[in-house]
Amino acid sequence: MDALVTGAAGFIGSHLTLRLREAGHRVIAVDCFSDYYDVALKRANADAVVRAGATLIETDLRDAHLEPILEGVDVVFHLAGQPGVRSSWGSEFATYTRNNIEVTQRLLEACRGRTSLRRFVYASSSSVYGNAESYPTPEHIRLQPVSPYGVTKLAAEHLCSLYTLNFDVPTVSLRYFTVYGPGQRPDMAFTRFIRAALQRQEVTVYGSGEQVRDFTYVDDVVEANLLAATRDVPAGQILNVAGGSHSSVNEVLENLGELSGAPLLTRYEAGAAGDVMRTGGDTTAIRSLLEWSPSVSLREGLARQFDWVANQLSSVTN
Ligand code: NAD
Ligand code: UGA
Repeated sequence: MDALVTGAAGFIGSHLTLRLREAGHRVIAVDCFSDYYDVALKRANADAVVRAGATLIETDLRDAHLEPILEGVDVVFHLAGQPGVRSSWGSEFATYTRNNIEVTQRLLEACRGRTSLRRFVYASSSSVYGNAESYPTPEHIRLQPVSPYGVTKLAAEHLCSLYTLNFDVPTVSLRYFTVYGPGQRPDMAFTRFIRAALQRQEVTVYGSGEQVRDFTYVDDVVEANLLAATRDVPAGQILNVAGGSHSSVNEVLENLGELSGAPLLTRYEAGAAGDVMRTGGDTTAIRSLLEWSPSVSLREGLARQFDWVANQLSSVTN
């Protein structure tokens, strides 16, 4: 395939790009290197995708000229966006509306009428559910996000549906559930917890630590993207991508204590606005339509991320 990956210097986008290159696909990798977290990490990801043979275009999709970028592309994987649930309040919201809603609308608009486009895969989020009415949560349940971030991810998902209905843009929206693994963003829980464990520093736990997440290993998310691009699914489809590992933050901390050989030092703070108490995705639809199932357990994936962070830290100190 001739793929465009947006957000290719980010955590998930870089994994996806490397996997596409491994499989021999041509990849145009786009990123604007936003400074939401240490840009050096994104530069390192970008170097890796370029070494793997992807063509890097550094541009902001809010105002980039999209025609030449889309030239010859038959699959778009749209992962560029402003992530982070808890930081989406206040004046930061403008960054979320621009990078999540406006960029998606621009890209969809540029895809109108492109008959060579076979698929537009959008990186949606479990945050569209909010505190869901039932678990495991199926895709068709009432959507009631509880964070401004979730509102923007849902708006972009609705835009994908609109462009399918009105202009036949062949979208598939994948709702990822808390993704982890090597290269995870530094603002996310596992990266913070592992670094703290290795450096014998205190971790901050928001709320009781009893909040549950359906953590999903990054390779499984990449696989779901590949299947969404290549399998014959109806345009407009929306699918959960959930790892099936329902664990509380406290359970994760306990597991990390075992991996590091000592209990983590913890400080409990008030719960964070926008944080849901529980996520848990029903994966019946993706199992049946894409024959996808998660392949990495939380215990295994956490150990892999632990080793990866340990290696990173030791290569910095050596
Ligand atoms: P990330 O921040 O590591 O990657 C996103 C990339 O998009 C960044 O490198 C950023 O520079 C780029 N970007 C942002 N705005 C852009 C713009 N206007 N033009 C060009 N590039 C731009 O985040 P991630 O964790 O890899 O998440 C990737 C996508 O998956 C995001 O859309 C996110 O909302 C979604 N998602 C992530 C998770 C998760 O657990 N990580 C879960 C659900 C959904
Ligand atoms: C993650 C991503 O950050 C979002 O971009 C994504 O859209 C979302 O998953 C999703 O599934 O849609 P989140 O579940 O909040 O959001 O992931 P983490 O940042 O890894 O947090 C997991 C849990 O750990 C949360 O309950 C959080 O409050 C807690 N946490 C996090 C702490 O207790 N302390 C920390 O230092 C960080």
